[in-house]
Amino acid sequence: MASLTGKVAWVTGAGSGIGQAAAIALAAEGATIVLTGRRKEPLQETAATIEKAGGKAHIKPGDLMKAAAVTKIAREIETEHGRCDILVNNAGLNILERSWAKLTPEGAEQVIDGNLSSAFYCTTAVLPMMRKQQDGVLIHTSSMAGRNPSLLSGPAYSAAKHGVVAMSHTINQEECVNGIRSCALLPGEVATPILDKRPVPITPDERKRMAQSEDVGDLIRYIACLPPHITINEVWITPTWNRGYVANLRRSNT
Ligand SMILES: NC(=O)c1ccc[n+]([C@@H]2O[C@H](COP(=O)([O-])OP(=O)(O)OC[C@H]3O[C@@H](n4cnc5c(N)ncnc54)[C@H](OP(=O)(O)O)[C@@H]3O)[C@@H](O)[C@H]2O)c1
Repeated sequence: MASLTGKVAWVTGAGSGIGQAAAIALAAEGATIVLTGRRKEPLQETAATIEKAGGKAHIKPGDLMKAAAVTKIAREIETEHGRCDILVNNAGLNILERSWAKLTPEGAEQVIDGNLSSAFYCTTAVLPMMRKQQDGVLIHTSSMAGRNPSLLSGPAYSAAKHGVVAMSHTINQEECVNGIRSCALLPGEVATPILDKRPVPITPDERKRMAQSEDVGDLIRYIACLPPHITINEVWITPTWNRGYVANLRRSNT
């Protein structure tokens, strides 16, 4: 397994949850980490944790739903670091009023922009650098809702995350000749702040049984450290106590 010394990783949504855990795990492998999210404070906290452990981190706050902001950050990465080896395309969001009964055009726009358009913007921004290097790894945090449409996650989120999976596979179809590798990462439920937006609140005991941010961060580290001739195209990571399976099981046993 290669170490990431000398590599530059851009992690989006790096101030909390999966993105924060991935940033810390990649920094521990020696990569210089560029951290993006809208809020500056959580990014500073992630950077401080990385630096305390002897790693290197730079914060670049920005709203990834704005294409111009994404282009600006990518240009700064190229100017300041001369390369981008890894994109953890992880920022995402969901809304409370997500069912068809409550969904508004504004809500749909926010979820699609915040999960799919933003992922496209980041991808198009880093691909030129990766083509120049003839090397690069992209890891996109989709969701199990990106394979199995889910009312729990909502129609807009399910559609956007399906889009992220399709986007990732097309990158491999076109860019494999440039040494570029793309992975669609599909988590089940992970105990992170995004769950605070669930219409039905989740108890602390339920959160304990879910996957934890560090579990997913470690998988991202593993994928990023694979040798250049290997691509993991798509991967699912779910809690063993999968609440969807358990609910079905209980229904089928009655
Ligand atoms: N937790 C789960 O059960 C689960 C399951 C499947 C997939 N996922 C996916 O995993 C990814 C990470 O989410 P998480 O679970 O770790 O939740 P999280 O802690 O809420 O992380 C999401 C991060 O994305 C950032 N972000 C959101 N919109 C942004 C924007 N427009 N521009 C820049 N940054 C933005 C947020 O920071 P700011 O608010 O500061 O911008 C936040 O740090 C998301 O794509 C999510 O859809 C999560």
